[in-house]
Amino acid sequence: MINFAIIGCGHIAQKHAEAIHRATGAKLLAIFDKEEERTKPYQQKFGAKGYSRYEELLDDREVDIVCICTPSGTHPFLTIKAAEAKKHVIVEKPMALKVEDAEKMIRACEQNNVKLAVVHPNRFRPVMLELKKVMEEGRLGKISHVNAVVRWNRNQAYYEQAPWRGTKEHDGGVLMNQAIHNLDLLLWLVGDVKEVMSMSATRLRNIETEDVSTGVVTFSSGALGVVEAAVTIYPNNLEETISIFGENGTIKIGGPTASYIKHWNVASMDDQQTNELIERVKIDPFGKPGHQWIVEDMVQAILEEREPVVSGQDGLKALQFVESMYRSAEIGQKVKLEKELTHS
Ligand SMILES: NC(=O)c1ccc[n+]([C@@H]2O[C@H](COP(=O)([O-])OP(=O)(O)OC[C@H]3O[C@@H](n4cnc5c(N)ncnc54)[C@H](O)[C@@H]3O)[C@@H](O)[C@H]2O)c1
Repeated sequence: MINFAIIGCGHIAQKHAEAIHRATGAKLLAIFDKEEERTKPYQQKFGAKGYSRYEELLDDREVDIVCICTPSGTHPFLTIKAAEAKKHVIVEKPMALKVEDAEKMIRACEQNNVKLAVVHPNRFRPVMLELKKVMEEGRLGKISHVNAVVRWNRNQAYYEQAPWRGTKEHDGGVLMNQAIHNLDLLLWLVGDVKEVMSMSATRLRNIETEDVSTGVVTFSSGALGVVEAAVTIYPNNLEETISIFGENGTIKIGGPTASYIKHWNVASMDDQQTNELIERVKIDPFGKPGHQWIVEDMVQAILEEREPVVSGQDGLKALQFVESMYRSAEIGQKVKLEKELTHS
């Protein structure tokens, strides 16, 4: 049995607890929140031990893996402490708000010989696994360009749920909090980004960070990309899409959370294969919950002594993408990612 602890008992912690509960060979052993009351439901429902201090939880030798589910700005400190206590870490996205902090987290895990996984669960949606497969097989041929769109609504009440939301210190704006999932998908599907040019603004919400952002991207392969992300869409979430345009295929994935095939035309697939695929995705668009993939993968990664499928390096790349878009918007110029990387 691999024993888990959850740190921070807010919205996303529930998904971690359910995922651990469902995963074979995993148990939710311990729980901590700086507001102790919040640990009670987890003690009652899962029989987890409640701790009133993080250091005490880390001293519990039975805890193998710590899931960090606290506001984003707290992730580096909590991750590094856990690594120093020789605990493996699953950290929520974004892994940190600054690249240099993410690098410190990776280093701390390496030095203490523990594993680090970052929660980008959208990679495991059935449609994304299909898309990854055709991309890896090179079935779309040379990619001319891609497009990533997040048109969602987060109203003012959302930002007022907790004081950390919409702040530079603990959250970041639409790119850092919401669109980072879509940007991670682009990196995973299309490869590294070479340079970005971006503009962002705070138009409709009363927050410190951006509520709308646009950008253009050049990938290392030479493919171009367009990014549009907003939480200002009236009155509800409209769509999240990823479109890929290649010499031998055009694919558009969409729906409110990029889970459905909107267009799939691949030269090497006949109508029957395409229709079967569209039907398969429609019947089960969400598949096994992404958090369960991450939890089960971490258990396997420990048993098989390998890296988790979404590693600290993957989380770092997504953060570099966002940070470079912020930098470009700030200075009003193109930003090269390689150059950004050298400051580690
Ligand atoms: N992967 C996803 O799809 C997804 C979805 C939602 C949120 N998230 C991420 O999960 C994290 C938490 O988001 P949320 O919506 O659950 O927030 P939340 O505000 O609902 O919960 C945060 C919890 O952490 C506790 N907390 C704060 N600082 C702490 C500290 N230093 N030590 C211990 N506990 C502390 C708070 O008391 C609260 O209970 C964020 O990083 C967010 O970006 C990821």
